[in-house]
Amino acid sequence: ADLRDLNTFGVAVRAPWLVEVADATRLAEAFAIEPLSARAPLVLGGGSNMLFVDAPAEPVLRLTGSEVRIEADDGDEVRLYADAGVEWHALVMRTLDMGLSGLENLALIPGTVGASPIQNIGAYGVEVGERIDAVHAFEPATGRHVRLRREECAFAYRDSIFKHQAGRYVVTGVDFRLRRGGTPQLGYAGIADELAARGIAAPAARDVADAVIAIRRRKLPDPAVVGNAGSFFKNPIVPAAIADALAALHPRLPVFAAGDGLRKLSAAWLIDSTGLRGYRDGDAGVSDAHALVLVNHGRATGADLLRVARHVAARVFERHGVALEPEPRLIGAAWAS
Ligand code: EPU
Repeated sequence: ADLRDLNTFGVAVRAPWLVEVADATRLAEAFAIEPLSARAPLVLGGGSNMLFVDAPAEPVLRLTGSEVRIEADDGDEVRLYADAGVEWHALVMRTLDMGLSGLENLALIPGTVGASPIQNIGAYGVEVGERIDAVHAFEPATGRHVRLRREECAFAYRDSIFKHQAGRYVVTGVDFRLRRGGTPQLGYAGIADELAARGIAAPAARDVADAVIAIRRRKLPDPAVVGNAGSFFKNPIVPAAIADALAALHPRLPVFAAGDGLRKLSAAWLIDSTGLRGYRDGDAGVSDAHALVLVNHGRATGADLLRVARHVAARVFERHGVALEPEPRLIGAAWAS
């Protein structure tokens, strides 16, 4: 199977097998036969957080179930279940149509519901882990379906148990904890500015989503137009002393709190400072709209994109002594060499 349309970088690679399962309750049967009985699969959601440097050696597994249902409703708080295969942004819009708030800051993030807990998607002051009640998963090794409560998922910045125990679970669905009404999360300055510019003083969830959509359309390239996987690097977390030293040299460097004695630096700013925004090496490059986003201008291969990524990281390290780590999962290559 050709995976070009199944990864948002638009990299053309061939998977030896593509297995699609609509009904997650039948996963045990799927794992009992070839090819899944022989080799652990690569589970693919929207392919919005993966860089195929090489073709996967494993069978690719996609869950295509698309059910969304209310599980519990006390009039104020609602527990909503969504299948892994539901497209993320469609879910956000659907919850707004249902009058539910909680996911509005996460509008327009590419990918699927099933992928959302894995890297704990986050944007504009909210991480999905804060809205998750539990994650439903199938455990191939035991053949069991499990329900992991939020506390068991070890959510952290772009991180979760599903990254640490890769291959242990196949996420089949997510329970979200949402509200009717609810207080909008406006902590991220850009949102407040956008709402003020629109003359909205008391924003509802939908106003926040509209603001987020407008900001994302301005700042982030649309993967349907130019291949990309959102932020290619995580914002580096460093000891406060290092952040202070850098900030003294570069007063404009954005620095955020990140827990005890730690600070999170803006990777976009660090990259921008090296002059690499808009950089291009063949069809692989750095977006000219946002320095943290790598783009495929056409026929870039995963290896081309990885070469650009390494170049960017090397330049940032040379100039600032800060190591950048990729955010998407690399298939067929390791970052550390
Ligand atoms: N900036 C630059 N140059 C640029 C772009 C940004 O210097 O080309 C500076 C600006 O000062 C800006 C600051 O970087 O104020 C932060 O930029 P932005 O608000 O776009 O946020 P980010 O830290 O670059 C993170 C997430 C995004 C998320 C936004 C908004 C990560 C790795 N990325 O980006 O998530 O949408 O915050 O909350 O944490 C993703 O993970 O794929 C993603 C797009």
